[in-house]
Amino acid sequence: MPAIGIDDLSFATGTYRIELAAIAERLGVDPAKFEHGLGQVEMSVLAEDEDIVTLAAAAALPIVERAGREGIRTILFATETGIDQSKSAGVYLHRLLGLGDHVRAVELKQACYSGTAALQFAAALVARDPAERVLVVTSDVARYELGTPAEPTQGAGAAAFLVTVEPALVELEPASGVFTRDVMDFWRPNHRHTAIVDGKSSISAYIDAVAGAFEDYRARGGAAFDEIDRFCYHQPFTRMAAKAHRQLAERLSSSRDGAALDAQIDDTMGYNRRIGNSYTASVYFALAALLEAEEDLTGRRVAIASYGSGSVAEFLSGVVVPGYRERSRVEAHERLLAARTLLDDEAYLALQRSVQRDDPSNYETQRQTSGPFRFAGVRDDKRIYEPTA
Ligand code: HMG
Repeated sequence: MPAIGIDDLSFATGTYRIELAAIAERLGVDPAKFEHGLGQVEMSVLAEDEDIVTLAAAAALPIVERAGREGIRTILFATETGIDQSKSAGVYLHRLLGLGDHVRAVELKQACYSGTAALQFAAALVARDPAERVLVVTSDVARYELGTPAEPTQGAGAAAFLVTVEPALVELEPASGVFTRDVMDFWRPNHRHTAIVDGKSSISAYIDAVAGAFEDYRARGGAAFDEIDRFCYHQPFTRMAAKAHRQLAERLSSSRDGAALDAQIDDTMGYNRRIGNSYTASVYFALAALLEAEEDLTGRRVAIASYGSGSVAEFLSGVVVPGYRERSRVEAHERLLAARTLLDDEAYLALQRSVQRDDPSNYETQRQTSGPFRFAGVRDDKRIYEPTA
């Protein structure tokens, strides 16, 4: 069986950003709570004419431009910010990317977890036909009620990756561990734009699910905790990764502690500290940050610990491929983050409220995005997407 894994990884995020200190001031909270307690300094905010499709297309376009479209027969679109109950966001994405007719496009949902299900489904398709390359896109916008403790844990972004044989970035190892338990820690009924969350119980549900997935990973031949070099956790806020990692080490009686544990996760947080929670994309922003950090990780074992409220977790590992740095998109990614326009609190609040439309069947959006595609609005209940150039 040839090696299968991630061949390319690219991301996109909102045109705007807000510093969490501005939200702290409105809420009358010490800004150190967000910066040190949550590990977040700012978060991305979408323009009026951006949504999960425009973000996904902006993330995936550099991949198809670099690798070509040939052999891409499947798009797996992972999101929990669905824009339609029936039509897959993957079909809009398929057109924007200019892919041919002989492609399947579907959407997958299970809170923040479904991108990792998509990774596994993609690997299975590629194992069946090694000529196939599968495009996985994770794209989400995290929205909570304004003025609640969850508000500083919003964010938005999309990460796209190509799953192939003989991948250039990370070769997946065969073992993976999964865990499902029906809990009500976070959910979003169809009539709501914002999620309902029981914050404290969501943290313990996350830790229990990741520990359960790790136990299954080990039982199926996965590496021991101390044989794993770096850990990419789902990061609803970056301190969550530290909490989860320490808890896992403690439960497994690892010989590592303190700074040794921090060193295994520190490089995974650079992007999420600035983007906020991007739900399905978050764990892949962690992987991107790790692979684009200064340290050379060639040949090292990296874990992906994926969690989606509700709840499902998966723990898997892979090995970083020699030459992976030649594929790095670090400069483009840094440019993208630096180019975001800073909003003040008032402008951010106005944008947050703009998702509520008087007539959701017909409206136009203002031209704001700096990305390659825009969501022009809704006409007779049909969403309109177009290139910006
Ligand atoms: P909160 O009420 O702000 O929490 O809610 P807190 O009062 O416990 O404070 C948070 C931390 O700040 C604490 O640190 C405080 O000590 C510290 P900890 O004890 O946890 O180590 N703190 C300070 N630090 C420095 N200086 C200060 C200061 N004051 C306090 N002055 C909560 C926090 C995360 C619960 C809230 O933001 C929330 O509900 N967020 C949304 C839910 C969430 O993100 N859950 C995470 C796990 S579930 C998950 O990851 C899935 C998810 O992504 C959804 C999906 O799967 O689709 C959410």
